[in-house]
Amino acid sequence: MDKERKFDKVVNLAKTRGFIFPSSEIYGGLNSIYDYGPLGIELKNNIKKSWWNFMVSQRDIVGLDSAILMHPKIWEASGHIESFHDLLVDCQKCKIRWRVDDLEKQKCPECQGKLTKERNFNLMFKTSLGSVEEKANSIYLRPETAQGIYVNFLNVKESMRLKMPFGIAQIGKAFRNEITPGNSIFRMREFEQMEMQYFVKEKEASNIFKKWLELRKKWYLDLGINKKNLKFHKHTKDELAHYAKKAVDIEYNFGFSEKDPFEELEGVHNRGNFDLKQHQDFSKRKLTVKEESKEYLPHIIETSCGVDRALLMFLIDAYDEIEGGRSITTKSIKDKEVVLRLHPKLAPIKVAILPLSKKDKLSNKAKEVYDNLAKDYRVQYDQTGSIGKRYRRQDEIGTPYCLTVDFDSLEDGQVTIRDRDTMDQERIAISKLKEYFYNKFN
Ligand code: GAP
Repeated sequence: MDKERKFDKVVNLAKTRGFIFPSSEIYGGLNSIYDYGPLGIELKNNIKKSWWNFMVSQRDIVGLDSAILMHPKIWEASGHIESFHDLLVDCQKCKIRWRVDDLEKQKCPECQGKLTKERNFNLMFKTSLGSVEEKANSIYLRPETAQGIYVNFLNVKESMRLKMPFGIAQIGKAFRNEITPGNSIFRMREFEQMEMQYFVKEKEASNIFKKWLELRKKWYLDLGINKKNLKFHKHTKDELAHYAKKAVDIEYNFGFSEKDPFEELEGVHNRGNFDLKQHQDFSKRKLTVKEESKEYLPHIIETSCGVDRALLMFLIDAYDEIEGGRSITTKSIKDKEVVLRLHPKLAPIKVAILPLSKKDKLSNKAKEVYDNLAKDYRVQYDQTGSIGKRYRRQDEIGTPYCLTVDFDSLEDGQVTIRDRDTMDQERIAISKLKEYFYNKFN
């Protein structure tokens, strides 16, 4: 691959092929806010579906969808009002604001100007409830989905008659007024999290923490992420968040900087009983469980993953370039071919239906195949351009299978299926397609 960073190529592809757009672009954009295009939303939905299936459907875990706006006391209890800060400085010359963590020297990295004194900046977005803008009505957009789970802990346990240990999972938007956002959707101000809180007895916490760390890594590996690009980073005492007893980040080789290419993708935390204790104290409602004649406050093991960060990782890991192209047809078009080797479960388009010619006879047959498969899969119909160009368009967006309808199909009732990665082709009877793809995608 040539010298341009893989990350920049992925961001460019994501824009031109309908995955990710800068928000409000015709008005000049809005810093670090992004929209997902037609293929981006398919990929994002597939990631969320796969996570839900792995976390909730197969285990002693139930789901929840709590509100973004919550009682303001929650953020006092959680410690976010007091501790959810970044230290910042402003450049006195160019006025750019910097996170102290990101600075190597005492001067502005942009213009070498002098910096102001450090001060705390709370990352929560404030808004007001109702029409009166009084302090009493101030509320916050949630900076994590976790608190919605803690405050519903007993509602869930009792309504679902759950016995310890068990988990609650939630996918939803979170908001942080990041000081130095950037690197496309890596650090955003509006983003989505997939979080799971597992409620345990204190003595089980350490083993369950280890189990979840391995399970979360397994989820990424099962979806095709290269093992070499993942690593664990254990938080030192200085790095630990105010709520955590122990924390390990799962990091991915995003490659933003050559010096330190690994960045946080997901956090696995042993939160002790900090959260339930705080909410019990602040709400004056008992949050203990009584089981086997013992009454106690559960401890919590949390897994917290950013949907957008995961999506960026899946795109980067899948991106491949083949110098000189892979086949004669592609060679004549351009000397470099891009293939997005997304796991079939994640691919936004599962099958492309390509009639070999635009003649009615063929397109009618191809549309019949399309209508039939579209009931079960996201499929795309494309009849414009040479077959080589159409394969390339599908390879670039990660479509695992291209299905060609040719003149022989009208005689023998078969179509040709081409595999994105091996480029092998096989003839399959139209009547067997449902069974064929069921085996491929399940
Ligand atoms: N409930 C714990 C919690 O929120 P966190 O480490 O602050 O922990 C968890 O965030 C995950 O959420 C991160 O590992 C990351 O994937 C994602 N995340 C956090 N801030 C983000 C941001 N500004 N933009 C995109 N994703 C973010």
